[in-house]
Amino acid sequence: MKILIVGSGGREHAIAWKISQNPKVTKIYAAPGNAYNKVIKNCENINLKTSNDILNFAIKEKIDLTIVGSEELLVDGIVDKFKENNLAIFGPNREAAMLEGSKAFAKDFMEKYGVKTAKYKSFTDLDKAIKYLDEMSYPVVIKASGLAAGKGVVIAQNRNEAEETLKDMMLNKVFASAGDTVVIEEFLDGVEISVLSITDSEVIVPFISAKDHKKISEKETGLNTGGMGVIAPNPYYTKVVEEKFIKNILEPTLKGIKEEKMNFSGIIFFGLMVAKGEVYLLEYNMRMGDPETQAVLPLMKSDFLEVINAGLNKKLKDIKIEWEKKSACCVVMAAGGYPVKYEKGNIIQGLEKVNNNSENEKIFFAGVSEKEGNFYTNGGRVLNIVAIENTLDEAIKKSYELTEKIDFKDKYSRKDIGTLYIPVSKI
Ligand code: AMP
Ligand code: GLY
Repeated sequence: MKILIVGSGGREHAIAWKISQNPKVTKIYAAPGNAYNKVIKNCENINLKTSNDILNFAIKEKIDLTIVGSEELLVDGIVDKFKENNLAIFGPNREAAMLEGSKAFAKDFMEKYGVKTAKYKSFTDLDKAIKYLDEMSYPVVIKASGLAAGKGVVIAQNRNEAEETLKDMMLNKVFASAGDTVVIEEFLDGVEISVLSITDSEVIVPFISAKDHKKISEKETGLNTGGMGVIAPNPYYTKVVEEKFIKNILEPTLKGIKEEKMNFSGIIFFGLMVAKGEVYLLEYNMRMGDPETQAVLPLMKSDFLEVINAGLNKKLKDIKIEWEKKSACCVVMAAGGYPVKYEKGNIIQGLEKVNNNSENEKIFFAGVSEKEGNFYTNGGRVLNIVAIENTLDEAIKKSYELTEKIDFKDKYSRKDIGTLYIPVSKI
């Protein structure tokens, strides 16, 4: 089988690594990929970025399955284009991708089907949005409705800040057209959980839970990033939380997908918040999380390609996804200065000291290039270092030991990945 993986980060490396375990896979193309193609067998990079170019390539090369990593092309309708050409592709069609592509659409869907979420209102008119601020308590959450590369959510501490944020989004267009519509919503104070899942629009099967660490500095301080580390499973995902998630979020979501006849096979990533003893849905992402995927897939015992195929053939109800009874910790090694200003092109040393072929050590390339057999930093987030162990504490310890073996100029990692500042008993 020839597989095409669209995207260029550590998530796509992890997907390619997992898919390559299936003996039927003879070739993997990465569009555009990164230097991970040098460490996965029969993997080739192709420098294509638009839906049409990727489609034409898939037709020409008779690709058997395309998997899309990130959201932009999904919202752009790449799945619909492939389907019109009878090509197999895993992911949401344009309409289903709107559950991520438009926060206003997603919130209206949640409200319509009774998915538990924070109270909200959407606006396209600045004056009306500003007026609504009088009714809110603070802090308040303001979201650009469209895709904003993970930067479109602002937690405003007071009315003044909230008004400035609305003006930035709706008048000054800091997020371009993504801010034409804004969602103003109630602030929830709690702990977050990422639950990835797979659906064939008949069932939704959750994966093992994960906990992302989004801020650049320890104790969740400093600027937002694309994610500095992950643990899986997430200790906050207790039996009680799971039951509430299934009943108040997963089941009504599935009802909505069926009633709206969305009819797709892909990933639904539920961004959950546990607050005031309840489980709320903050957002849907309609693709795998980065870096959640890098910690979750190494724990999947099942063959991921077979799981995806079951999704595409609407047979998810007939399979059981098996998971290792272990924990994974993924520590991101970033370039100093990220997420603001950082160097690229510094040589990476020590990669050979991590045994990528062992069951419990993995390195995924997030932003890496290769030249004449050497690897170089090529992004803000450079490497994802993953350890898989029997306990979470061991996995954390091991992943930090692995980061010590690897070196590049100004390497930076958060030191507290996996630390739970709020005890599980207090949620
Ligand atoms: P979203 O893109 O909607 O997940 O928002 C990004 C991040 O903003 C989330 O991961 C939370 O940390 C935060 N956030 C979003 N909505 C809320 C909310 N209603 N209350 C508190 N924090 C939120
Ligand atoms: N780690 C969060 C995301 O992928 O959106």
